Amino acid sequence: MCGISAIASHKPVAAKLLTALQNLEYRGYDSCGMALLHEGQLSLRKNVGAVDEVDALEKFRKMEGSLGIAHTRWATHGGVTKENSHPHYSNDKKFVIVHNGILSNYQQIQRDLKSKGYRFLSETDTEVFSNLVQEEYKQAENVETAFCNAIDKLQGSYAIAMITTHQPDTIFAVKKDSPLVLGINDGVNYVSSDINAFIAETRDTIILDDMEYLLVKNDNYVIKNLLTRKEKSKQVITVQWDRQTAQMGGFSHYMLKEIFDQPQTVRNALHVPNEQIQTIAGKFIEKEQSFCVGVGTTYYVAMVGTYLFSKYANLYVPSISADEFPTLIPVNKDNHVLFFSQSGETYDTRMAIRKARNCGAATSAVVNVVGSSISQEVDDCIFQGSGPEICVVSTKAAVSQIIILWRIALEVGVLRNHLSRKDADAFQGRFFKFSETIGQVLNEESGFIRDLASKTSRVRNWLFMGKGIYYPIALESALKMKEVTYLHAEGLPAGFLKHGTLAMVDEEMYSLFFLPYKDDSDLYNSTLMSIEEVKARNGKVVAFCAEDDDEIKKLLDFGLIIPKTDPELTPLIQLIMAQLFSYYSALNLGLNIDKPRNLAKSVTVG
Ligand code: G6P
Repeated sequence: MCGISAIASHKPVAAKLLTALQNLEYRGYDSCGMALLHEGQLSLRKNVGAVDEVDALEKFRKMEGSLGIAHTRWATHGGVTKENSHPHYSNDKKFVIVHNGILSNYQQIQRDLKSKGYRFLSETDTEVFSNLVQEEYKQAENVETAFCNAIDKLQGSYAIAMITTHQPDTIFAVKKDSPLVLGINDGVNYVSSDINAFIAETRDTIILDDMEYLLVKNDNYVIKNLLTRKEKSKQVITVQWDRQTAQMGGFSHYMLKEIFDQPQTVRNALHVPNEQIQTIAGKFIEKEQSFCVGVGTTYYVAMVGTYLFSKYANLYVPSISADEFPTLIPVNKDNHVLFFSQSGETYDTRMAIRKARNCGAATSAVVNVVGSSISQEVDDCIFQGSGPEICVVSTKAAVSQIIILWRIALEVGVLRNHLSRKDADAFQGRFFKFSETIGQVLNEESGFIRDLASKTSRVRNWLFMGKGIYYPIALESALKMKEVTYLHAEGLPAGFLKHGTLAMVDEEMYSLFFLPYKDDSDLYNSTLMSIEEVKARNGKVVAFCAEDDDEIKKLLDFGLIIPKTDPELTPLIQLIMAQLFSYYSALNLGLNIDKPRNLAKSVTVG
């Protein structure tokens, strides 16, 4: 998984390509590079490291040229080495390319090209393409034809951008199963994996569909269909994200900024048109059985859904992790599957969609990234409008998805006559008030949470526990903790503790309990029993608790005070407070919060 970018301009493009790389870095950050065309000559610089590190070594800004391509990499084929980083030249150094995706038949192509005398300098699948175009050009003597003929030989997923000395004013780009967008401006055009790469330059964009290719010059562009090779006209979309939204806005990390974005992103989720909510809700009625599917954070979002459908619609909707879905769930045409994905590019989720579609099931999705693959693969898609989420770990996108899911569950409740329209509508008002409460909690509680994080900074093992809807909240919170702090944090149902995990508890083990208000007496009392079990083994207990709950405060080593707010929305308040707790814990450990080790924002490989 990688990010690609290309610019055709009438002015030097190196600095703008560098900015594009910085904006795309969340897609991969183990190496990067750039190639530019100047006075009929190609030049290329690349190296291993984050964008700023490579720039310090390679001095990208010194590269000359008004046409160029750039790439930031997250290794899939071949290790993290300079040779494997992109761009990749053809053997004759007349073509140079960047690629995002996987060419599944590259070994076959490589064998053929080797037999014709081509040499390969990297272990990547990508390098076959630049040489394939060189080979095709011998016959075609026309770059566009050579480019298309080479693409015809590819299998797998790809977004590719190419420049060549044979046609020094044009970027050639193509898309299949990996995202690609075009940005349009006066005298300069952009190609990229993501609108965010050029958001500071233009908001006018065209989202490419699979099997479309582009010929882009500084003053015009042509979109063509790969099969017919005929020109197509496509709608220009003006994206609403602005430069400021995409920047850090004074926060020390994107993670913190994105946690603080949540009052607004919740409002955006509430502004998703009712008709879109109703369309997806209708599927839960039309079909015999529905499922909720996501992976990583979005699996836990799906799990929250299971509790919401049960409560508000009296309907059991199983949630399944996307990576298990294809082997586990025997779907058919009487089924409906609702998918969740922030990036809209996650491989496991896409494979689950493929299985559901192939079996004739209805598919729908809640997705953040406009134009992403998943949004185009399902029958119905809601764009949650959370804006770019740059930090690798997901915060604001997950909470927004839960709000949208909540709205769908309420609508299904009405359609199933389990809930009155009046009650469902009244919830809408509570949600709007809730967005204000989030702002208040973030401003008032951050200091206390930061305090707790420094008091517990030596803790290495955590159990995160909750019951009912607080259980998936505990799971997601434990995942957040693992992702940013690399500490062991195990999420489990509070009631399950006594069935084994209790053996782990001693004075070194810390437990965080997601405890509801006392009014929620069944959940409260049973969670309290688990707290007692931990205390009886000298385990340390941290719990969310109400200000006036003196009884529980006596039991706890540390309390995280939850302000008095809507009891039904308290799980979400606790989730947001747990996001902050993970953030401050990682801050104390001095870790790379926005780019934790071994993780990538969207995992587009299986
Ligand atoms: C990766 C990320 C996780 C994310 C998951 C699903 O594993 O590291 O943070 O939750 O993908 O991503 P999606 O974009 O589909 O929500």
